[in-house]
Parts: sequence; structure tokens; C-alpha cells
Amino acid sequence: MPDTVTTFAPGRVEILGNHTDYNLGFVLSAAIHLGVTVRSNRLSKNILEISSQTNQRSVTIRLDELQPCVDEAWANYPIGVIKVLLEAGFQLGGMDIRISSDLPLGAGLSSSAALEVATALAAKVLFNLDIEMMQLAQLCQKAENEFVGVQSGLLDQASSVFGRVHRLILLDFLAIKVETVSLPTNVSLLLLNSGVPHELTGGEYNERRKQCLLAAKSLGVASLRDVTPALVKSADLDDVIRRRALHITEENERVVQGVDALRSGNLALFGALMFASHESSRTNFENSTAHLDTLVELAKRTPGVFGSRLTGGGFGGSTVSLIDSAQADEIIRTISREYRSIVGATCYPILTTPSEGARVLA
Ligand code: GLA
Repeated sequence: MPDTVTTFAPGRVEILGNHTDYNLGFVLSAAIHLGVTVRSNRLSKNILEISSQTNQRSVTIRLDELQPCVDEAWANYPIGVIKVLLEAGFQLGGMDIRISSDLPLGAGLSSSAALEVATALAAKVLFNLDIEMMQLAQLCQKAENEFVGVQSGLLDQASSVFGRVHRLILLDFLAIKVETVSLPTNVSLLLLNSGVPHELTGGEYNERRKQCLLAAKSLGVASLRDVTPALVKSADLDDVIRRRALHITEENERVVQGVDALRSGNLALFGALMFASHESSRTNFENSTAHLDTLVELAKRTPGVFGSRLTGGGFGGSTVSLIDSAQADEIIRTISREYRSIVGATCYPILTTPSEGARVLA
């Protein structure tokens, strides 16, 4: 077993399939080139020494006393991961966890999942844990659900784990299966942070999750994966619940259509599905914001953009646009200028392409 390891786990971007993960549906996502790096050594004492270059803080905690830290909430992600690994029966001892990141916080690019996955991968290598990568992603999700208190699905962790260069990740959350689909090399992903921070610890995410569960219950099915949009439309449901269920079921269909579009090289159709996804977020799921809507509207009228939508939980954060790489500079200039003149705020661009998932660097 090595004494020391450096791991990297990327942020993710959701391309199609919004809030479908915890409804056991489909998502197309990608890992991006930015992420979280964890440098870690095995320690002789049974403690975790966690430090972050981002906020210059540190926390030391005994392995037999792993509790959420109220004052140092950032440390709960690695603490939660180690606790969940121990509870799952994996044998591990003390380690230090030195965190650095080039992933912007609050942009909706899953910095928390990246931190969880980089921590879990470091523990796997340092203590030679016999753990498959999907299980690793699931345990990281469990840590987030139980330790941090956000009832998020598996999308973020699975995308951080299974990213592939220039391929989108197709996740099926009922079968818990992953495939990848090739993306042409002349297109890029443009992420535009609306400048309005995205906070999943707010109540809206958990509220949407409850509404989806209620929709499934009212329709007499185990999850919304079991119903079609047509069935939702014909059912006698409360208006809000019906719109939530429509969003999820239509998103599932859009992912399936999107995969076909990519396989047949139809980027225009793929882009149209992205715009339709955003429209559904705006009207049916109500997880968009005026700033995100403006970014998508601007993208729609900018040459070289195939499609655009909000990405991830919503309620702030970023949009993702599929764009012609050759026109990237002009697209960024145009949208940034117009965004500033319309909303009086700055949007922050990240230009990326689908990138490799979590890995050991040294
Ligand atoms: C957040 C959650 C994910 C997923 C997306 C919406 O990123 O962490 O599990 O539900 O929102 O698709």
C-alpha cells in the first residue's frame, strides 16, 4: 500500500435530463477539465487532518468521533465520506486530506461531489479498498445525503467518476448503468455562470424531490421512470404536481432522443432538445431564474450555438451551451456584452470539452 497519493476528481455538467436522477431516469452529462485535487498521506494516529487551500482552514477529527462540524461546514464532505466508508465496513486508518481546487464554488458544477470523490479515491488507494467505482460514487452520494443533508441524486458523483474525453456520459439510474456517447471534436461546452450563486442547501431542491415522489405516488407507480408524458397529461393531478411530473417524464424522452441525435450526427436536433429542456425548467419545474433565462435567450440568437439550458439543480448557477468551437471567442464576447447590458451583471465563462473522470495523479 502506498503511503501517499494525489487524486483528482472533476466537476460535472449536466447536458440533458434535469432532476431525473433521483426519479430513476436518464441523464446525459460530462466531466469537465476543472476539479478538486486531494493530496493525502497515511497517518499513524487514527485521525483525519483536513485542510483546504481554498479557504486556508483546517480541521482535525478522530476517526471514532466523526460528526458533522457546525463551524467548518466545508469539512463535512470529506468527513462524511470517510464515515460512510467506515460504516460500510471498509478498513481504513488515519489520513491527512489536503484539498485544492480550480472549480468555482456555487457555480452548479458540483464542487462538493468532486471533493467527495477525490477523498474516496484517495482512501481507496491508501488503504487498498476493494471498492468498485459505481459503489464509490454511491457511497459519496450517501455521505452527501446523510452527512450534509442535501437529498441529491447520484448524478454528480457518477459523472465525476465516469467522465471520458470527448464523450458524454449516459446514465440510467434505474439499472444503475453507465455508457458513453461520442461528441464530435469540433464542438465545445460553454458554461456561463449567471453570477447568482446556486445553493442546494436551500429548501427548493428537497421540495422538488418531494413533489416528484408525490407525483409518482398519485400515479400509483414506484417512480416517474414508469410513466410517459401522455399518461401524466391524462391523469387527474394537482396542477403543480402535474407540471413537475411532465418535466421529468419529458426530460427522460429528451435524453433518449438526444442520444439518437448524437449517434446520427444531428447536432441541430440535439440543440433543440437542450432549448426545450430549459423551457420545461422555466415553466414546468420552475427551477430557473431570470438571469439563467436571459443567458439562454442570448445563446438562442447567437450564431454558432446549437443549444443551451440551465445545468444541474437550478435556482441559480450556470447554463451550458453546445457550441461550434471555432466560434467560441466571438460567442463568449457577444453573450457577455449583451448580458451585462441587459441585467447589469457579469457572467463568468468556462469553455470546456468532455474530460476524463476521477483519477490518481501520483
Ligand atoms: C443537483 C443534484 C443532482 C441532480 C441535479 C439535477 O446537481 O446534486 O443529483 O439532481 O441537481 O439534475
